[in-house]
Amino acid sequence: MTILIELVKDIKTRAEEFGRPIAIVPTMGALHAGHISLIKMAKAECKTVVVTIFVNPLQFGPNEDFNKYPRDLETDFKICQENEVDIVFAPTKEEIYPDINKIEQDLIVPPDNLASVLCGKTRQNHFSGVCTIVKKLFDIVTPDYAYFGEKDLQQLYIVRWLVKTFTIPTFIRACPIIREASGLAYSSRNKYLTEEQKIMASNIYKALKLAKQNIRSGIFTINKALLEGLIFLSQFPEIKVEYLDARDKEDFSIVDKNKTGGIYCLIAANVGGVRLIDNIELQ
Ligand code: PAF
Repeated sequence: MTILIELVKDIKTRAEEFGRPIAIVPTMGALHAGHISLIKMAKAECKTVVVTIFVNPLQFGPNEDFNKYPRDLETDFKICQENEVDIVFAPTKEEIYPDINKIEQDLIVPPDNLASVLCGKTRQNHFSGVCTIVKKLFDIVTPDYAYFGEKDLQQLYIVRWLVKTFTIPTFIRACPIIREASGLAYSSRNKYLTEEQKIMASNIYKALKLAKQNIRSGIFTINKALLEGLIFLSQFPEIKVEYLDARDKEDFSIVDKNKTGGIYCLIAANVGGVRLIDNIELQ
């Protein structure tokens, strides 16, 4: 049976009652196949699975989609029930941020080399918002394992930084990207796209695959392969690329231009005003 908990004071004891190891799957709701894959992995490894649902105001910029972000707790709860989640923790904003106006002093600010690049360039303070909520959720739930999707790759590296920096005894598990048949990575924001826009957006993954092939073939350097990816996408004016870049798998640093493995290519692009991100690994 899945239980719904809304109060911070209840969650820790209830999770302990279910037993350790405790898994946390942090989400902002609007659950999709990507989230379900995290839940399945958590179920396979832990005694208790806690899915948190909280649309975190701190990680949205003033012109972003906080107000219109899809919220449907009833459907999310059903999905959790179907997947045998033990606890859905869906706190209110007031529970998590009793004094949001004074939050500045409690913000956790990750280092610039991780958080001010790629998505952090256009989404200022986004990763501080992510770190602040993830740390709070970890403090409340005290999970043994936490499950994050590789789609939000920069977030994953920053969460690893968070855990290391604050010596948090939670093991971070990374789960592979789940894609629609077209190749489009599942995202809660896909809900904003029309069917036509979804088909258009699937070219984002095609560009990543092209970059991967071109680096693999050894004919192109990374920079040339990324440029070819951009040229491929330039035939679709509906896709507005924010960045297409590469990072070292080891530490998320800028990649040595002669490297051909241990790399991620990452992209952010807008389709019909919807910001989408994706990435591909080159082993
Ligand atoms: O990836 C997300 O959905 C969010 O950034 C997270 C980790 C739940 C924090 O709000």
